[in-house]
Amino acid sequence: MNADIYSDSLEQAKLRAAELRTLLEHHGWRYYVQDDPEISDAEYDALFRELVLLEERWPALKSPDSPTLRVGGEVLDSLPSYAHSLRMYSLDNVFSMEEWREFVQKMLRLLPGVREGDLSFWMEPKMDGLAMELIYEKGLLVRALTRGDGEVGEEVTANMRTVKNIPLRLRDDAGPVPFLLEARGEVLMTKKDFAALNLRQEARGAKPFANPRNAAAGSVRQLDSTVAAERPLRFLAYGLGRVVWSEPSSAETVKEEASPWNSQQECMLGLQSLGFSIAPNAALCPSVAEVETWQRALAGERKSFPFELDGAVAKLNSLPLQKRLGFTARAPRFAVAFKFEAMQAATKLEDIQIQVGRTGVLTPVAVLTPVSVGGVTVSRATLHNEDEIRAKDLRIGDKVLVRRAGDVIPEVVGPIPEKRTGEEKEFIFPSTCPECGGHVRREAGEAAWRCVNRACPAVRRESIKHFVSKAGLDIQGVGARWVEQLVDLGLVQSPADLFGLRAEKLRGLERMGEKSAANFVAALEKARTTATLPRFLCALGIRHVGEQTAKALARTFGSVEALSEATEEQLCRIPDVGPEVAAAIDDFFAEPGNKQVLADLKGLGLWPVMTVQARPARQTAAQVAARHSGIISPLAQNSLLSLLTGSEERAQGQTGENQNPLEGKKLLFTGSLSLSRSEAKALAEAAGADILSGVSRKLDFLVVGEEPGSKLDKARALGISILDEQEFLRLARTERQHS
Ligand code: IVH
Repeated sequence: MNADIYSDSLEQAKLRAAELRTLLEHHGWRYYVQDDPEISDAEYDALFRELVLLEERWPALKSPDSPTLRVGGEVLDSLPSYAHSLRMYSLDNVFSMEEWREFVQKMLRLLPGVREGDLSFWMEPKMDGLAMELIYEKGLLVRALTRGDGEVGEEVTANMRTVKNIPLRLRDDAGPVPFLLEARGEVLMTKKDFAALNLRQEARGAKPFANPRNAAAGSVRQLDSTVAAERPLRFLAYGLGRVVWSEPSSAETVKEEASPWNSQQECMLGLQSLGFSIAPNAALCPSVAEVETWQRALAGERKSFPFELDGAVAKLNSLPLQKRLGFTARAPRFAVAFKFEAMQAATKLEDIQIQVGRTGVLTPVAVLTPVSVGGVTVSRATLHNEDEIRAKDLRIGDKVLVRRAGDVIPEVVGPIPEKRTGEEKEFIFPSTCPECGGHVRREAGEAAWRCVNRACPAVRRESIKHFVSKAGLDIQGVGARWVEQLVDLGLVQSPADLFGLRAEKLRGLERMGEKSAANFVAALEKARTTATLPRFLCALGIRHVGEQTAKALARTFGSVEALSEATEEQLCRIPDVGPEVAAAIDDFFAEPGNKQVLADLKGLGLWPVMTVQARPARQTAAQVAARHSGIISPLAQNSLLSLLTGSEERAQGQTGENQNPLEGKKLLFTGSLSLSRSEAKALAEAAGADILSGVSRKLDFLVVGEEPGSKLDKARALGISILDEQEFLRLARTERQHS
């Protein structure tokens, strides 16, 4: 077909383009959704080429529902964030028939008047891909969002337009098309498409993907939609977000009016008639017992199934009952994932190695002949401790069963004794530390052997790794590998040494160029100036002190000094802190090595403090400012002082009401401010605000500096108030002006 015939008439071209789009969408649907093509591939290609030519000749004809968009083209710098209009929940799991029946009983307890016989369930496979929301306005696909954290997702519209079984325009031949439709489902890759993609990857010298899920996730989040278009993704719908059936008149707010769909089954058949693919074997089970039969049958088909599944999903069919049950904070009460039994594989236990952790604990690790367990290659698994090896009667050289349940860490189930040859060797737990040769001790009542040498290089190395890790100060770009190298070279012996490293020195290291050396130093400097007290306490690696405890300790004591001087009684008043935790804190501060590290960090200026909460007697401004001295510039110290002075005057009865606009508010900073981050935080906290660690609906204000990151997008998407630095400072100081 020659597109030139329309070249002198836009009107005519417009008509033909519309006709071609309808034809292409229809034949695409026949091919990809119905699996029943009506025309040959060559005929389809000819129609497609004609439309491409027409749109090139008349760029004004391009439209968001054109099948030509399915080849991609858009390239982005980053993925923008958008809030979901209704939260995207997760699912709770059950792992056995008993748990499934308990789940049903719990539903019935919450539905007085309903009997078990009244319940029917819509069943689908639990597909192992990633959740997606597709938004259609007036029948046109306008936006695609990943699940993200459930509240805010990433926009991946251009990539999703390339997914061949996603309708760009909803079909209107079987019933009304809603004014607004949010279709939710799973994006995945079939096992066959995945294998072919990996062959192509290898042929191109690119790294193969570990499993279909990773391949799908990587493809969905591509910045270049042309790459996404080459990836064989599919979308299978499983539910709805918001649906508005008719266009609201401009004056009235949108009312949720009656839907023609009253059950899960009707919703799914409705989605199907609008042009979506749904899970191939979805079915209605009219009783609790039939759900069980259906789930067992699905487990039997698992291997031959076209894509990976890890269970079945049972959803109460009645929408009115779904509504009565509602949701917990995490998941619906009317649906559950009924998981398959864990996946197992047999392999050889080649060796047992001992790892020494940051607290000196000796952990035995199984070294296995690599084996694929449900698509993930497993070559190591923790054996926890000496007793576990004994209880399982594991011997080196044994054939063992390895198990993985869902995303759970792999574990060695036990040996297969009938496969023993007599060559297997018993494992003797070492009586000295394999890293330093030092003495090891096992305390009464404890399962772990521990290296008691405080100077053990492994303990030191692991403590530093912990210090920089996500669980510690989360210093981006200063990872475990670098720490290992630096410790091995003798350049670093304690966390404090890291901050003394200069770029020139780092440049000589393996795979460390000029740029990474500069980034490395900058990351440490950033951490030094922005670390908060709770993070700092986590980073120290005090036994039993994790994130929650560190927060509580920081709020109660406000500084490392105050914490180090706390009595057991004071410590035990904090929720979750018992004598064991209190003793660990005491031990930590009594250790001379730790004292030295703390003194060094303080000397470097890495010494965060925090305003203590719920002070029984309010501290004087001078006390608080004194506590902040050393980390706060004179400018901020002045405002802090005046702020606190103001609040003291108010506390003395000058004004009864709370005049401070930041009191009790949740704040977060992003981008660079002229104050350092710790100064800004100290100011905010002194004004009574709490600092959150991420953007969520709980946040009241996002304070934005220069070059803000993705937090800004996310906050905008959630409609959170944005403050610039000047506004923030004004609010932080309002209290004084009022009093
Ligand atoms: S329904 C409100 N149905 O599983 C209910 N989810 O563990 C929300 N998933 O994020 C989900 N297959 O991505 C549903 N047939 C299915 C599913 C399914 C896979 C995923 C989904 C969700 C996750 C929750």
